Amino acid sequence: MPISPAADRGRQLYQEHNCVACHQFYGLGGYMGPDLTNVISNRGAAYARAFMAAGTQAMPNFNLRDEELDALVAYLEFVDKTGTYPPENFEVKWYGVVAQEDDPR
Ligand code: HEC
Repeated sequence: MPISPAADRGRQLYQEHNCVACHQFYGLGGYMGPDLTNVISNRGAAYARAFMAAGTQAMPNFNLRDEELDALVAYLEFVDKTGTYPPENFEVKWYGVVAQEDDPR
């Protein structure tokens, strides 16, 4: 699945601000904050955006501009579409591959 320019910009911002220090995708990353793989499906874009815009007592406010928030939401939407974590509906094939039913790959 190709990444859109907006989502790619969000990916850059995610790296620059070191979000991975506290957050995980597919269980990988720091453990201070929640896993963000499916935050868009589970909580919605507006909710994720509000967190990123304001921060909380536990999460820093990065003073992100509107355009940066849009890009981060686009990136989280992109990641959300790559699969489900923790995995559901998986099947181990006889040739040793673990396939996920709603996995687009
Ligand atoms: C210092 C650790 C830390 C960093 C760095 C950090 N976060 Fe967070 N984040 C948290 C914590 C902790 C929470 C849960 C906060 C709470 O419930 O008060 C959170 C919550 C969130 C949520 C809501 C998730 C949910 O399921 O409720 C989103 C979205 C999010 N962060 C995105 C980001 C992004 C994007 C970045 C980088 C720009 C980032 N965070 C950087 C600690 C961090």
